[in-house]
Amino acid sequence: MMENNWKRYDFDCLSSTNDWALANSHLVKETAVVCVADCQTKGRGRRGREWISPQGNLYMSLLFNSSRLPTDMVYIASLSAAQALKIMVPDIPLQIKWPNDIMVDGQKIGGILIEKAANDAWVVGIGLNLCSSPLRKDVVYPANNLLSLGIKIYRDDFIEIYLQQWEKFLQLDFKSIKDLWLRFAYRLGENVVIKLGSSELSGRFIGIDEHGYLLLQQAQGVKVINTGEIMFS
Ligand code: BTN
Repeated sequence: MMENNWKRYDFDCLSSTNDWALANSHLVKETAVVCVADCQTKGRGRRGREWISPQGNLYMSLLFNSSRLPTDMVYIASLSAAQALKIMVPDIPLQIKWPNDIMVDGQKIGGILIEKAANDAWVVGIGLNLCSSPLRKDVVYPANNLLSLGIKIYRDDFIEIYLQQWEKFLQLDFKSIKDLWLRFAYRLGENVVIKLGSSELSGRFIGIDEHGYLLLQQAQGVKVINTGEIMFS
């Protein structure tokens, strides 16, 4: 049973589904909303990056009210995507690169952008490369798409299962969410380099703490990191 009754808005093309959701945050007074576009002309990624958004892939944003912490959203958003794909393709070699990049075979196939909207609302934007991915050489991890990996996912099936997973995980406390998330964690237990702005930190990725911060084992002790990007081992 879903706690939220999601009202879906579909568009041929938007600048960005997150922008649409941010501009329509008043809708949450009535209902939780899922906004879906066939393409985006100004798709946005994290850290101000562009999210190239041709037709054929999935672009959606959830708009909702919640009293949960932002960190909970980050983990619920990526865990729901991972679990939905696992339900649809049980043997998919899927992992989540901290905090919320969706990886298959070490290649990024999806990303999540969470933003705070007016009216105490949250926007969770999800992009999934169903059938195409940008050919870019300036990124650390190559992008790929599910079709190239031999996986056919129907967008609307994914949306339905994603929302079911979202509702399910929303009922759990953070510890349970974190434990489930860690099962998908990319490079857990391995040596990684964390990029923090222009500096880098090396160590072993040993887990996530109760606040959702990453724990990096270094020679001098455990370093707690609340932002950044895992680069490579
Ligand atoms: C990232 O990995 O940098 C996050 C990418 C998020 C892309 C999605 S596509 C739907 C929603 N609308 C946007 O403009 N961005 C998010």
